[in-house]
Amino acid sequence: MNVLSAMAGINDGEFCKKFTKQNVDIITLGGYNIDLETFKAGLQNSIDDRQEFITCPHHLSEDIDEQINIIKEYNPNWKGKISANLRAVSADSFKAIYKNTQLDIAEINAHCRQKATQEAGAGQALLKDEKTLLEMVEALCENTTFDISVKIRANVEGVDTLKIVESIESYPVKYLHVDAFNPGVDEPDYEIINRIASITNIHVIANNCITSHERYQKMLDYGASSVSVARAALDGDISHIFQ
Ligand SMILES: Cc1cc2nc3c(=O)[nH]c(=O)nc-3n(C[C@H](O)[C@H](O)[C@H](O)COP(=O)(O)O)c2cc1C
Repeated sequence: MNVLSAMAGINDGEFCKKFTKQNVDIITLGGYNIDLETFKAGLQNSIDDRQEFITCPHHLSEDIDEQINIIKEYNPNWKGKISANLRAVSADSFKAIYKNTQLDIAEINAHCRQKATQEAGAGQALLKDEKTLLEMVEALCENTTFDISVKIRANVEGVDTLKIVESIESYPVKYLHVDAFNPGVDEPDYEIINRIASITNIHVIANNCITSHERYQKMLDYGASSVSVARAALDGDISHIFQ
């Protein structure tokens, strides 16, 4: 499957809808700040020149529905799924979307590395707080029927990526979305995807610097079940990647 990966406030319905005509099977909305702590962190991130990280948790579920409607009205024939990437500090925060009926996939964000987000205990900080991360997974399992995705960043200093994968493996998580982050290199770490794929039965969506069909194919050859793109979508055309 081909996936549009999260890009915070950029990934609203208007931005995402065109990709329904570019061979994309999963569109990710957000990431959204879904509690007060991540909202405050978003404000701080915006001061630090990342304006796209301001999203307001008030009326979150209705806002997500509005974006989904924009996409579906634009292309009623599209059969893909909609995911929402969610930044939170605790399992309780996910209550904000329990009643949503339009979303297909809830993606827990254990990925964002902005300083304020991590200081709040959200995003990449969850990779070092497995207890909270797994409580989030449990909360979604118990209270919703969404497919669950966990978005992680690979190769984070002080984090054993494979151990995190093993911990998640025992839960009914449908997608493991892995940023094959390769510090200092402008190409993904294909090897880490290969190692992850060899120890899990979860559907692995892999990304990082996928800018061509060749890199897309290489990611699949290394064991990814699906590939996602983010930055390459900013110019509006990813059909050359997902040909
Ligand atoms: C402007 C921007 C905003 C992003 N916001 C989010 C986010 O809110 N949540 C998330 O999990 N990843 C976020 N990402 C990370 C992307 O989803 C993706 O994992 C990363 O950029 C690597 O893929 P790429 O090389 O195709 O861009 C963001 C990336 C960019 C460029």
